Amino acid sequence: ACGSGNSGGSSGSGGGAITLGFAQVGAESGWRTANTKSIQDSAKAAGIDLKFSDAQQKQENQIKAIRSYIQQKVKVIAFSPVVESGWDTVLKEAKTANIPVVLTDRAIDSPDKTLYKTFLGSDFIKEGHKAGQWLTKEFASASGTVNIVELQGTTGSAPANDRKKGFGDEIAADPKFKIVASQTGDFTRAKGKEVMEAFLKSQSKIDVLFAHNDDMALGAIEAIEGAGKVPGKDIKIVSIDGVHDALQALSDGKINHVVECNPLLGPQLMDLVKKVAAGQEVPQRIETEETEFDQAAAKAALPQRQY
Ligand code: AHR
Repeated sequence: ACGSGNSGGSSGSGGGAITLGFAQVGAESGWRTANTKSIQDSAKAAGIDLKFSDAQQKQENQIKAIRSYIQQKVKVIAFSPVVESGWDTVLKEAKTANIPVVLTDRAIDSPDKTLYKTFLGSDFIKEGHKAGQWLTKEFASASGTVNIVELQGTTGSAPANDRKKGFGDEIAADPKFKIVASQTGDFTRAKGKEVMEAFLKSQSKIDVLFAHNDDMALGAIEAIEGAGKVPGKDIKIVSIDGVHDALQALSDGKINHVVECNPLLGPQLMDLVKKVAAGQEVPQRIETEETEFDQAAAKAALPQRQY
C-alpha cells in the first residue's frame, strides 16, 4: 500500500532520508490522536521519511504492517504494541532482515531483549500507583467500605496490565477499599459509557470510578449523568492521561484527579531513530516525565494545553 521507497538512494540504505516504518495502535483516544500528530510532525521536522499505518487496535494488522515495512526495506521500524504478548516471530523476522526496532509508548513481555533496540514511554505501573495514592488520601477518613469500579484499558495491553497492578498494590493495604466491578472499556469513550451504564445497573453503591484513561472517564461521565447522578460528587473519578477535555472536566468538578501520561513522544523518538539508524548505542529504556493534576493545576494548565 505504499508507492515510495526502493528506487536507489532515497530509501533505507542509501545516503538520503532515513525511512521509518511506524505501526500505530489506532485512533482510540484523544491521547492517541495527540501521539500520532506528534510523531507525524516531528518526522517532518527531522527530515525523516515516515511510512505510517493505523492498526485499528488489532494485533494482526500491526503484524501485517511490520511485515510490509520489512519487505519495503525501511531503515528503522517503530511501533506501539497493541498488546504485550505475541511479538517474537515478527520481530525475529525484522532482526534477520537487519532492521532495528524501537518500541514506543507500550512495551512487550518478551524475555528476548535483543528483539528491539530501546523502549521510549511511560512507567504505567507508577501511573497506577499515583491514582491509588490519590484515592487512599481522598478517602483516608472514610469509615465504611469504599466501593470502586474500574474501567480497564484494552485487554492484554501494557497500560491496562500495569495501571491495574499499580493501583491494586496501592489500595491493598487497607481492606476498606473494594473493587466491586472491573471490566474493559477498550480505552474508548463509547465503551467507557456503555460499561459504566452496566456498572450503574448492577451495583447498588459506587463511591469511586478508576478509569485507565481519560476517554473512558469522559464516556462514563455521560452514563453517570444519564443515571441522574453527579459525577465528581456522588461518584468520585480518577483517570489517567491529561487530555484537554479531561482537564476541562476536572476544572468543572466532574473529574476529581488526573494522572498525566505524556503523548508527545515524537521529538525524542526521531532522535532515537537517527541514532539507531547510525548504529549508535542507545539506552535500553527511556521514561518520559509526567505530573498529576488536581483542580487548581488543571485550571492553570488548560489555556496552554495543546491536546
Ligand atoms: O498506551 C497509552 C494509552 O493508550 C493511553 O493512556 C490511552 O489513552 C491510549 O489509548
